[in-house]
Amino acid sequence: MTLRMTDGATLANGVVKPWLGLGVYKAEDGAEVEKAIHMALEAGYRSIDTAAIYENEAGVGKAIRDSKIPRDEIFVTTKVWNTEQGYESTLQAFEASLQKLGLDYIDLYLVHWPVPGKYKETWRALETLYKKGLVRSIGVSNFHIHHLEDLLSVCEVKPMLNQIEMHPYLIQKELRQYCEQNGIYVEAWRPLMRGNLEVPLLQEMAERYQKTPAQIVLRWDLQHNVLVIPKSVKKERIIENAGLFDFELTDADMALLDGLNRDQRFGPDPDHFDYE
Ligand SMILES: NC(=O)c1ccc[n+]([C@@H]2O[C@H](COP(=O)([O-])OP(=O)(O)OC[C@H]3O[C@@H](n4cnc5c(N)ncnc54)[C@H](OP(=O)(O)O)[C@@H]3O)[C@@H](O)[C@H]2O)c1
Repeated sequence: MTLRMTDGATLANGVVKPWLGLGVYKAEDGAEVEKAIHMALEAGYRSIDTAAIYENEAGVGKAIRDSKIPRDEIFVTTKVWNTEQGYESTLQAFEASLQKLGLDYIDLYLVHWPVPGKYKETWRALETLYKKGLVRSIGVSNFHIHHLEDLLSVCEVKPMLNQIEMHPYLIQKELRQYCEQNGIYVEAWRPLMRGNLEVPLLQEMAERYQKTPAQIVLRWDLQHNVLVIPKSVKKERIIENAGLFDFELTDADMALLDGLNRDQRFGPDPDHFDYE
């Protein structure tokens, strides 16, 4: 599979989302997030993943505007937070995000978590925004198969992407298969296990491929047809995390990495999240 950094996944409606994006969770609003985005854009990234709850949409928008790169060359994702879910409140939350970002539209808007009893109404709001042309694509995050089945039974527009926790300790095989069967792309959050990469197999492969453990993991995602949004605010790591397009893992090594699975989450399980 020969892919370049500028390549992306073609979502169900034809919109292309770059395989690689910069995650900005825990990047502080203002100088920190702005600097990270400038470094990422310079390194060739063209996709940024934020969320209302990260409280850095203002800095994200400022950095994008200041970059002077044409707006339509940068893919911006943000998400509606749990307390704002429901039809009207999601429309309002979207307006607030758009204002903070200082943009006219968003490329991908996601339901951040499947808040019980609310996510279907939230989804209806995303459909409205999509039909109005205010978002180019819509999707969900942290949806298990049962949430997707529930949503697919009522939705007019199918989610185009599901952003989920995924890394070699949580390979999400069944959920990925379900998404693929339903034309939903998977995107991995916490792909680097928050930097906990001291895994002997990763170290051994890194040496063998002359790459870093982070690059091995991100390449593994890519070869599973999964988009990635590694987070860093450090220049050398931002550049390192983009180094996944110039090598290929063998099928045998892909299988070895899959074998690390222990269904271990670093974040909450969507079925047991504290939604209060
Ligand atoms: N939808 C959701 O519910 C959800 C949940 C969590 C995250 N996300 C999204 O997914 C993105 C990525 O997830 P994440 O930020 O939780 O975790 P991550 O990307 O797996 O890891 C980020 C951490 O690893 C460090 N790091 C970055 N590159 C590294 C490298 N090459 N080697 C070693 N350490 C490295 C970073 O530190 P430095 O910054 O100091 O380099 C940071 O502490 C988020 O930023 C966010 O956009 C979504």
